[in-house]
Amino acid sequence: MTDIELSVQDLHVTLGQNHILKGVSLEVNRGEIVALLGPSGSGKTTLLRAIAGLELPTQGSLRIGEQTVFDSAQKIEVSVEKRALGFVFQSYALWPHRTVYQNVAYGLKLRKIPAAEIKERVQTVLDNLGLGELGERHPHQLSGGQQQRVALARSLVYNPRVILLDEPLSNLDAKLREEARIWLRQLIIKLDLSAVCVTHDQAEAMAMADKVVLLKDGVIEQAGTPQEMYGEPQSLFVAEFMGANNTIKGRIAELDGDFARIEGEGWALRGRLRSSLKVGDEATAVVRLERIKMVPAAKENALRLPLTASVYLGSSWEYIFDLAGTSLRGYGGEAMPPGEHLVEIPAEHLWLF
Ligand SMILES: Nc1ncnc2c1ncn2[C@@H]1O[C@H](COP(=O)(O)OP(=O)(O)OP(=O)(O)O)[C@@H](O)[C@H]1O
Ligand SMILES: [Mg+2]
Repeated sequence: MTDIELSVQDLHVTLGQNHILKGVSLEVNRGEIVALLGPSGSGKTTLLRAIAGLELPTQGSLRIGEQTVFDSAQKIEVSVEKRALGFVFQSYALWPHRTVYQNVAYGLKLRKIPAAEIKERVQTVLDNLGLGELGERHPHQLSGGQQQRVALARSLVYNPRVILLDEPLSNLDAKLREEARIWLRQLIIKLDLSAVCVTHDQAEAMAMADKVVLLKDGVIEQAGTPQEMYGEPQSLFVAEFMGANNTIKGRIAELDGDFARIEGEGWALRGRLRSSLKVGDEATAVVRLERIKMVPAAKENALRLPLTASVYLGSSWEYIFDLAGTSLRGYGGEAMPPGEHLVEIPAEHLWLF
């Protein structure tokens, strides 16, 4: 027995003339939600389609539970219907002339499941998704959020072990999306499923997932818990993708163990080395917006900077300072007068790439 529900090893996919996935490996444990994150065109949909059996990889292997569903070396290729998977596509379409019930039941009918069993399975999944009362409605009589749940119901009615979701919340507006991602996470846990969920929104990935996998150009750039991805990025790409940052360009002036001094025109800061840099190298310093602090007295890594704007955000204020021609943004609890302020950029949180 193993706890691994989905295992992808060294997967390569070519579409047309393009080598799209270049050796992707990932594992999803039982009950785990993995968010697949990455810029547009990085290969997220292609990876889900290959797992589902809709694209034929050129190399690698895929296992769902105990079943090897693809293996290039052993020439194993299990068809789409025989993989214990549910799939909600990026642009899911409900059948407009069928009711909610019929939309969900359709696939079971095709598979010649007995009518009584279909009725029970459809009703169970509709109840689980809070759609129990809406079975007789047509899609145009539902809200966007309800339609999205029907699409989900359609894939869950097969009782899959693993569900693949491609931007499942992209049709919802921002407010609904924030509620839906919590609801979806709780549903996946309640049904004891494992899930791979594509999103290009890093906040959504962190809120929903146990593990985040960041794809770039068909290769996994980094994978880890949301905390590791946000707090311990291994490259500038990951640091920039995972949060709201200030980036400052400078030159490495001195090395000091895990730290280094970076300098620019009229400023110098201490930061933590996050890649191998030498004295004299051009480097990029990155700090999350929420790490910037205003301090009353001079101290290490506190710069005296002019405040160029103070923006009211409702729950907080955003400050924009000028640091040698680039803007440095931070948050605080009150309006700040224009003029110069002492701004601390803690060395621990200033990452040097
Ligand atoms: N049938 C195809 N033939 C050739 N190239 C394709 C095909 N389908 C997709 N591609 C290319 O493969 C790359 C990855 O596409 P994919 O749809 O997997 O990206 P994605 O990460 O899902 O992006 P998005 O966030 O925009 O949905 C893109 O460069 C795309 O143009
Ligand atoms: Mg896509």
